[in-house]
Amino acid sequence: MANVSLKGVYKYYDKNPKPAVSDFNLEIQDGEFIVFVGPSGCGKSTTLRMVAGLEEISEGEIAIEGKVVNDIEPKDRDIAMVFQNYALYPHMTVYDNIAFSLKMKGLETPVLDEQGNPIFDKKGRPVVKKRRYTKQEIDEKVQEAARTLEITEYLKRKPKALSGGQRQRVAIGRAIVRKPKVFLMDEPLSNLDAKLRNQMRAEIIELRKKVQTTFIYVTHDQVEAMTLGDRIVIMKEGVIQQIGTPTEVFNSPANLFVACFIGAPQMNLFKAKLVKTEKGYAAMLDGVKLELSAAVNEKLKAQNAEEREIILGVRPEHINLEKSPSDKTLTAKVDISEMMGSELHVHAEFEHAIKIKDDNKKDDESEKDQKKMIVRTPLLGLPETIAESIRTGGEIYFTFSPEVMHLFDFETGNSLT
Ligand SMILES: Nc1ncnc2c1ncn2[C@@H]1O[C@H](COP(=O)(O)OP(=O)(O)O)[C@@H](O)[C@H]1O
Ligand SMILES: [Mg+2]
Repeated sequence: MANVSLKGVYKYYDKNPKPAVSDFNLEIQDGEFIVFVGPSGCGKSTTLRMVAGLEEISEGEIAIEGKVVNDIEPKDRDIAMVFQNYALYPHMTVYDNIAFSLKMKGLETPVLDEQGNPIFDKKGRPVVKKRRYTKQEIDEKVQEAARTLEITEYLKRKPKALSGGQRQRVAIGRAIVRKPKVFLMDEPLSNLDAKLRNQMRAEIIELRKKVQTTFIYVTHDQVEAMTLGDRIVIMKEGVIQQIGTPTEVFNSPANLFVACFIGAPQMNLFKAKLVKTEKGYAAMLDGVKLELSAAVNEKLKAQNAEEREIILGVRPEHINLEKSPSDKTLTAKVDISEMMGSELHVHAEFEHAIKIKDDNKKDDESEKDQKKMIVRTPLLGLPETIAESIRTGGEIYFTFSPEVMHLFDFETGNSLT
């Protein structure tokens, strides 16, 4: 296990003036499972490859266990990496594929004096010599890795006689057999079909319990990020948008990008107004005054926030459907509904609903997605009058409670709280 520290890390490729990774700062704790997540091209692999030493660092510093590794060869960093393409040797058995990395690695052992005490050099470091692993040592390690990953019965097979999931397990076996200090994984599940991906995700959670290592895991899939990560690093265009636990990034997204990236279906966004009241602040949406929570009110007061246009975000599962309209309810018209088993996704048209482009700005160009919102509602206990409206494309009346409302600046897209 080891802690990993990235300080002010930049990556410039060739003559492209725009960095692929920009001012990346992160302290990873010993034994932590960190996930880098974001859309394709946002710099996840580049960052991971800089930790691995496969890509030069343009600016900044990366340290493993307190030791700066900028100029240290990949093979001397005590890391292991698993890729999307497992790159197993086709002509070797599973056993030899796993054993191969040990044969290459060799073992450092302390040099002893005649009394059997370790010898130290002038700087007080133990003197070591490198020797090869013995056949028996290799066998013990391969068998142990095979047990951990439950692939013992396939050890004699060639990779082509394995399923995709089994191959990925062998690739992981080849990495863990070396007992790396840091385990790097770059989209290891993206080549698998959906069912196998879910299964392997569960297996990685198991693996993590068995293998005491620091993990950095790269994915574009927010579900993988949310289920695997102790902390998640959400990136966009080379820039970290937010670092936090899955709960933190879900409950308190730092900006519209994070709000829309995490959670499915996406958070609904509404064009609203922040107004001052006797008690503090409220949000006005379609003529309805929406109370804000005490915590949000405190933060707005501390900023001395002005009355202005804002974007109000509410997740589809946080919208309450009401049986009848009142001065507290909002009204939308049902487009279609999707039956998801135990719940319904109701797509509806609402005058003040908006969509944003990826760059956090309001999307003026694409009219087609404007004025659309989604409500997720359990089927069980859904009053018949509401169910009827949904079936027939009628009106729905809805509210949301103060705790589930997210407020964003209309211009910057940053969270106001
Ligand atoms: N070897 C390379 N040479 C030039 N540009 C690259 C290279 N590798 C990646 N890039 C660019 O750097 C950016 C980040 O890429 P990458 O780290 O692979 O993103 P991700 O893994 O998040 O999909 C992209 O714009 C990509 O085109
Ligand atoms: Mg990548």
